[in-house]
Amino acid sequence: MTETTLTTQQAIELEEKYGAHNYHPLPVVLSRGEGVHVWDVEGQQYFDFLSAYSAVNQGHCHPRIVKALTEQAQRLTLTSRAFYNDVLGRYEKFITELFGYDRVLPMNTGVEGGETAVKLCRKWAYEVKGVPANQAKIIFVEGNFWGRTLGAISSSTDPSSTRGFGPFMPGYEIIPYNDLEALKRALQDPNVAGFMVEPIQGEAGVVVPDIGYLKQAYELCQQHNVLFIADEVQTGIARTGKLYACQHEDFKPNILILGKALSGGVFPVSAVLASDEIMLTIKPGEHGSTFGGNPLACEVAMAALNVVIDEQLAERAERLGQLFRERMQRLADRHKLVSLVRGKGLLNAVVINDDPEGDTAWNICLKLKENGLLAKPTHGNVIRFAPPLVITEEQLHECCDIIEKTLAEF
Ligand SMILES: Cc1ncc(COP(=O)(O)O)c(C=O)c1O
Repeated sequence: MTETTLTTQQAIELEEKYGAHNYHPLPVVLSRGEGVHVWDVEGQQYFDFLSAYSAVNQGHCHPRIVKALTEQAQRLTLTSRAFYNDVLGRYEKFITELFGYDRVLPMNTGVEGGETAVKLCRKWAYEVKGVPANQAKIIFVEGNFWGRTLGAISSSTDPSSTRGFGPFMPGYEIIPYNDLEALKRALQDPNVAGFMVEPIQGEAGVVVPDIGYLKQAYELCQQHNVLFIADEVQTGIARTGKLYACQHEDFKPNILILGKALSGGVFPVSAVLASDEIMLTIKPGEHGSTFGGNPLACEVAMAALNVVIDEQLAERAERLGQLFRERMQRLADRHKLVSLVRGKGLLNAVVINDDPEGDTAWNICLKLKENGLLAKPTHGNVIRFAPPLVITEEQLHECCDIIEKTLAEF
């Protein structure tokens, strides 16, 4: 059942006519979501295998998160940080204790989290490490994605992010991903302040580095007095089978950036976690956001994190992720269109045997939609499969059946 009066065609036409053309969505118009399912305006039901780019790990419209949102929304939504509010402190205590950090800086979107981390890292470099003014360097890796602000695209190696948007931010160095020798060389420069990296590159196509890469990179950074900044906006909040992905290699980044599923997808909430030494370099007036740390966001984030803990979503992602990759691997073994299956937890991708500019992955996603499952290609020939972590084993098998059936049609 649907409450909207628009047809699919009408809704698409409105967006085409009045919206900026900065996205290329699959032609499906959604009007409702619950758990792993979403429904379009015609009432068709789908499994959501994108989860809003891993923002909806707890499932669509999780009742506990929606309850926290609606209750707080009736009490107090926004005060700005010009005043204290009675939720922020409780949230700060909760999230820092949960993740094991001294302090948190609350923001809204993932990219603001990245910007905050870069600013913190620079400030720390000048005030603590002793880098000469305006000389601090931050190392990024090829294929990284942390959003679309000028600060973020300045580190990008993807022409669709950078073309037509220069000039770019100075003070960045870009090295290959999963390459410790390159990192060792880059760390020789005493002005290097930080190394910012995604534990698994989500937008680049769910690129998983070698086991041990992250931990060794972290140790190299510590040896050179360089901050290891983990961008866990996509990999965090149980998506890969741990509360955050660096835990697979048993180390704690100097700066941890969270976003997306920190709110279960109901509200933009991001957070940067760090030690006193790093966080206290930023003083009043030097960074902030009108909406960052608002009471609504804080209540929502606490509810979203409690759902992850109480429903043991990390353990579920770990177990069901293995099952998913086993099934996809069997498919890859007998289907010439699937060349590779990779991922961790419930962040997975299937590489389609096509050139990166080819249309096959897109056409497969259109067919998957017809068969009741929504997924989207990332980087041409890679299809990311990232369902809400509340998916049951039975539902996951059903979805694997849909994927198998769809690929058989190609
Ligand atoms: C790893 C990573 N960092 C940062 C971002 C940016 O998050 P947002 O779109 O909320 O600004 C994304 C978005 O996809 C991401 O995948």
